[in-house]
Amino acid sequence: MASWTLITGASEGLGVEFARIAAREGRNLILTARSKDKLETLAAELRSASVDVAVIPADLSDLAEADRLWSEATDGREIDVLVNNAGLGGHDAFALGQGWERELASINVNMLSLTRLMKLAIPHMQNLPKGRILNVASVAGFTPGPNMAVYHATKAYVLSLSEAVAEELRGSNVTITALCPGATATQFFDAADMDGVRLLKLGKPMSAHTVAELGWLEARVGKRIVVPGLMNKVFAFLPRISPRGLTTRIAAQAMGKH
Ligand SMILES: NC(=O)c1ccc[n+]([C@@H]2O[C@H](COP(=O)([O-])OP(=O)(O)OC[C@H]3O[C@@H](n4cnc5c(N)ncnc54)[C@H](OP(=O)(O)O)[C@@H]3O)[C@@H](O)[C@H]2O)c1
Repeated sequence: MASWTLITGASEGLGVEFARIAAREGRNLILTARSKDKLETLAAELRSASVDVAVIPADLSDLAEADRLWSEATDGREIDVLVNNAGLGGHDAFALGQGWERELASINVNMLSLTRLMKLAIPHMQNLPKGRILNVASVAGFTPGPNMAVYHATKAYVLSLSEAVAEELRGSNVTITALCPGATATQFFDAADMDGVRLLKLGKPMSAHTVAELGWLEARVGKRIVVPGLMNKVFAFLPRISPRGLTTRIAAQAMGKH
């Protein structure tokens, strides 16, 4: 039976790039996100590259949808690569008490559905010759993020979960990789109301293609944590040597606006 790659958040940004890279390698694809039309357009593009593509729209803010997605995706298919890429955030002071809907969606998509898909994928992959899970975390996972507190917390969770499960699976046929991008040129900032955030003025965002390519290549060799770009490596390293309180104050400045 041919093997398939399941990519969440495949309607935009990094997800589209992962799908194009996988198709370039001749891999069959299952694409998911909420935007069916965008998925169908991408599927048509990729089918012309002679790979099979299935589209399964799903709203991963509803945990039951993660189960339905997995059950439909594995109906007659073996999935040996899962890219847990769907995610969202929101720039909002937590303490103002607004924005609960978006925070809840972030928690559900970034953490709950990602965890559920991993939980379902690992035993499935253990019955295959090899399996690979690429979880898209963020450099945000290395620091608390005042004004984007929930998003940073969800990405810290993804990072911690990925590392822990990767260790459980050491020496097995399944690897887990956490990709931790910094600012990347996608729709993410608009969706997260990040216009004017100081951090984004520090440099040009990396291209989604470069970030996806690096994550894909490193996941192939089973690397546990991938931080693309020198500046992002610095952001990921500094919290390890700086006092936590200081790190959080600096992050508050960086995540402030104007
Ligand atoms: N861009 C950055 O600077 C950056 C940096 C670090 C990490 N990341 C992470 O990279 C990943 C991809 O983000 P991106 O930058 O490519 O952002 P994006 O362009 O906004 O794409 C986000 C994707 O997630 C999907 N999604 C959002 N809510 C969903 C829901 N409820 N159910 C199912 N799918 C949902 C979207 O599809 P629909 O709207 O069609 O559902 C879209 O395909 C995310 O996990 C993000 O946290 C991004």
